[in-house]
Amino acid sequence: MTQNFSNSFPNIRMRRIRQSKWIRNLIEENTISSNDMIWPIFLNEGSNVKEEIDTMPGVFRYSVDNLNEIVDIAEKQKINLVALFPSTPEQVKSEDGAEALNPDNLVCKALRHLKSQNLNFGLMCDVALDPYTNHGHDGLIDNNEILNDETIESLVKQSLLLAQNGADVIAPSDMMDGRIGAIRNALEAEKYKNTILVSYSAKYASSFYSPFRDAVGSKKKLKSDKKSYQMNIFNSDEALREISLDISEGADAVIVKPGIAYLDIIHRIKSKFQFPTFAYHVSGEYSLIKSAAQKGIIDENLAVLEHFAAFKRAGADAIISYYAPKISEIIKLI
Ligand code: PBG
Repeated sequence: MTQNFSNSFPNIRMRRIRQSKWIRNLIEENTISSNDMIWPIFLNEGSNVKEEIDTMPGVFRYSVDNLNEIVDIAEKQKINLVALFPSTPEQVKSEDGAEALNPDNLVCKALRHLKSQNLNFGLMCDVALDPYTNHGHDGLIDNNEILNDETIESLVKQSLLLAQNGADVIAPSDMMDGRIGAIRNALEAEKYKNTILVSYSAKYASSFYSPFRDAVGSKKKLKSDKKSYQMNIFNSDEALREISLDISEGADAVIVKPGIAYLDIIHRIKSKFQFPTFAYHVSGEYSLIKSAAQKGIIDENLAVLEHFAAFKRAGADAIISYYAPKISEIIKLI
C-alpha cells in the first residue's frame, strides 16, 4: 500500500475544521467578551437630560442625575470600565480652558455621584483641554501655536483633580510631549500611587473624530486641524517611538486611535513591546456602521463583531466602543 504524506490536497482539507459549529468553536483563535469592553459616555449639565447625539444615533448625553441608567446597563453587561466625556456649556468655555480645573465641573460632579455607589466597574477620564477651550484645541494656544510645556502644567492639575474626585484611570488624550512623565510624577508625589495611567499614545489626526466633536460641542469651535500634535496618518515607526516614550514615562497601558484604519499599529506595538494595548473604535467608526445599518445596507451587529474580531486578531487587549453596551447581543452571533 502506498502512503501519501503530502502536505497538500486531499490530505489537507481546510474545510474539515469548518464543517460544524463545535469544531469551529474549538479552532477559534481569538474571543471577545464583556471583559474586553470599555464604554465611553457623554455628560450634560441640567437635570433629567437624556438627549440623543444627532451624528451618533443611539448614543446619548446624560445629566448626572440620570447616570443610574448607565450604571444599570454597565453592571448588567458586565462592562469593566466606563469613560466619561463632558459636553461643557458654551458659556463656561474659555481661551485657557480653566473649567477643566473647576472642582465642580461636569466630570467631577459625575465622578462624585458615581463613586458614592458601590460600582463593579472602573471610571476613566480623558485629560485634555478641548472640552473646555473656546477654540476647541487640546492645549493652550498662543498665536495659533499649541503650547506644549504650558499645557502640561494644566494637564497635571487636571489629572490630580480627577484622581482626587475618584477617577480610577486617567487617560491623557492631548498628545503633548512629556505629559505622561509629568502626570505620573505628580500622582506619585500626591500619593495617588494606584491611579492607572492609560495613554492615548498613538492618536492620529483623523477625520473619524467628527461625531465626537459634535457630541462634546467642540466641532464648530475648531477652526484649524490638530496636525501639529496628533499623528500623521502616513506614519507608523513614529507611533512606536511615541509608545516607547510613554512606557518609559510610566504609562500602564496605551491606546491606538482610531482603531480599524490602524490595525497595523496595534500589531506592531504588541509584537515589539508586549504591552497592554487598547483599540479605540471611535465615533466615526460607530456612525459609519450605524448609518449603513439604518439604511439597510449592512447588518449592524455582524459588522461590529467583525471590527471587534479584527482588533483581537491585531492583538488588542481591550476595546473602547460606543457599542460596548450591545456586547451580549454581539457575542450571541459567534
Ligand atoms: C479629545 C478626544 C477626542 C476623542 C477622544 N478624546 C477628539 C479629538 O481629539 O478631537 C475622539 C473620540 C471619538 O471620536 O470617539 N482630546
